[in-house]
Amino acid sequence: MKKYSVPKNFNSSIGHNSLDNYQSLRKNAEQDSNSYWESVAKRIDWFDQWTTVNNTDYSKAHIEWFSNGKLNASYNCIDRHIENGLGEKTALIWQSNDPTTSTNVSYNELLKKVSLFANGLKRAGIKKGDRVCIYMQMIPEAIIAMLACARIGAVHSVVFGAFSSDALKNRINDSECKLLITQDNGVRGLKFDIPMKENADKIADKCPSLKTIVMVERSENDMFMKEGRDITWNQFIDGCSSECPPEVMDAEDPLFILYTSGSTGKPKGVMHTTGGYLVYASHTHELVFDYHQDDVYWCTADIGWITGHSYIVYGPLSNAATQVIFEGVPNYPDFGRFWQIVEQHKINVFYTAPTALRALMKEGDDWVTKYDLSSLKVLGTVGEPIKSPEWHWYFNVIGNEKCPIVDTWWQTETGGILMSPIPGCIPTKPGSATLPLPGIIPEILDEEGKVITERNTTGYLVMTQSWPGQMRTVYGDHQRFIDTYFSQAPGNYFTGDGAYIDDDGYFWITGRVDDVLNVSGHRIGTAEVEGAIGAASGVAEAAVIGYNHEIKGEGIYAFVTLMTGVASSEEIKKDILDTVTKIIGPHAKPSVIQFCSGLPKTRSGKIMRRILKKIAQNETEDLGDISTLADPSVIDSLLEK
Ligand code: WTA
Repeated sequence: MKKYSVPKNFNSSIGHNSLDNYQSLRKNAEQDSNSYWESVAKRIDWFDQWTTVNNTDYSKAHIEWFSNGKLNASYNCIDRHIENGLGEKTALIWQSNDPTTSTNVSYNELLKKVSLFANGLKRAGIKKGDRVCIYMQMIPEAIIAMLACARIGAVHSVVFGAFSSDALKNRINDSECKLLITQDNGVRGLKFDIPMKENADKIADKCPSLKTIVMVERSENDMFMKEGRDITWNQFIDGCSSECPPEVMDAEDPLFILYTSGSTGKPKGVMHTTGGYLVYASHTHELVFDYHQDDVYWCTADIGWITGHSYIVYGPLSNAATQVIFEGVPNYPDFGRFWQIVEQHKINVFYTAPTALRALMKEGDDWVTKYDLSSLKVLGTVGEPIKSPEWHWYFNVIGNEKCPIVDTWWQTETGGILMSPIPGCIPTKPGSATLPLPGIIPEILDEEGKVITERNTTGYLVMTQSWPGQMRTVYGDHQRFIDTYFSQAPGNYFTGDGAYIDDDGYFWITGRVDDVLNVSGHRIGTAEVEGAIGAASGVAEAAVIGYNHEIKGEGIYAFVTLMTGVASSEEIKKDILDTVTKIIGPHAKPSVIQFCSGLPKTRSGKIMRRILKKIAQNETEDLGDISTLADPSVIDSLLEK
């Protein structure tokens, strides 16, 4: 695999310009981990210094950093920049779905808006430790709401705006949120009335903990408002003071919960705490994107996912960044939208998902070349493996061969990037997240938990040591935390990904080793989708697997058996798609549904997904060992398609 050295004219503005520089950082961090993390933690303003740097004990699945340190995340993302004379600096450039509308919010304005809303929350009875759900699209109020929670010590739980009302209900109930912040309608591309408030209305009665719904008026459509429960954003802050002193939080006080899919049907509430998470998000945002004071930064993720939390809210804002936040979609009003925004706002650092690159690449270069992209300095990707064609397109056509590509590997659970090239230091190879960041110690283990020392041999990717941004627990279910991450390879954090190390020591992620799919960079559990399909009428059983999809990376392929006497039909297919949309959301809809008379199972009733995967990918010449199948005749019917 060809290696690309750091582009000749790239000059790190934060001063990391050689591989030796990286190697010495990595060595120091490994030799004296506490001093390393202590020096990193000083980038954050603490009200009180910590007493111990790292109190983690992996053998007990106990993770604790910067013990007894006191701080506030919102203070670090706003107030301290104002104290440093940056009050008039633009924090957010909101680019609306409509290309002609954008709004700038300075750090001074952000402080005022966050404080007003924080006082509104207090007036509504929200206290430190209470959970608040945020179900919104990409509008400034979403970020203001998150920071207002952080300011008063409430724990936010952001639910991605495309999730259905059922999915919203389950998440509100799991963490017993008292208050929900949403908007009347979402506006994205050609959709001007995504029913956010209506979705909330459908389930509010089934959420016993929920007392208040705050609604931003985005579309200004007439909405149903329930007396005593619903209130508009403006009414909610009316009469509130625009000053709200930040709550003093312990380093280990929860900052947020974010639900993510695992291998069972029930999503996990990944819980992050304040000190370690903020230190890690801030540090990695600067290091990986070479973020410098004057840069204009743009991450195209949604705040509904961890990338939005760490690399739109807490990382960039704690670094006093100026950033674009984007409400729209890459193909509206046309396929040049991303590049038009890069030109308009002179973006220096751009961070997106490979799936977006694949979708845009196929539309041709004319959408790109008509814009001036010369401001770009660093290009990043996240969420799924980037393949060679889109990597080269990104490097050559978007970056004009002068921008390092940072392929960042990380997870909701890790809080921030663990593996990525550092742009001025590490030569890249298309498709590899290259090397661990300093202080991160990955290893590849075999089935027995032994370290694989041979190169180019795939095994399970684990981390042998903690880092400050690591999740602390699964909300309300610490046993699930232990079982999922610390039981397969005791003494290590088990990532759920497969990987190998090549001859240069570079890491290559081979994908999930559990039943989790990665569709357009979105994490979706097969069990969740199977459960949703099973709820459609006439369905007896479903098995869902991922298959290679040109744009989405992985597409969802569903094998479905119907109840006796029910014949397959287009109506049933439609009903299945509608049911999945209702129970999870449109992003979890299968791309292919194949009806079959039976599923391949072992005698103990376990579905042999390996066989289904081969069938879905048309690799049917060799189905592997099928001797353990309870009923081998199902294979013939599956092959009939
Ligand atoms: C996958 C997203 C290859 C991986 C930040 C991981 C990647 C899962 C990469 C986490 C990458 C993420 N290369 N695969 N650069 N980044 N993944 O929790 O399988 O939504 O376990 O976090 O995405 O997805 P999550």
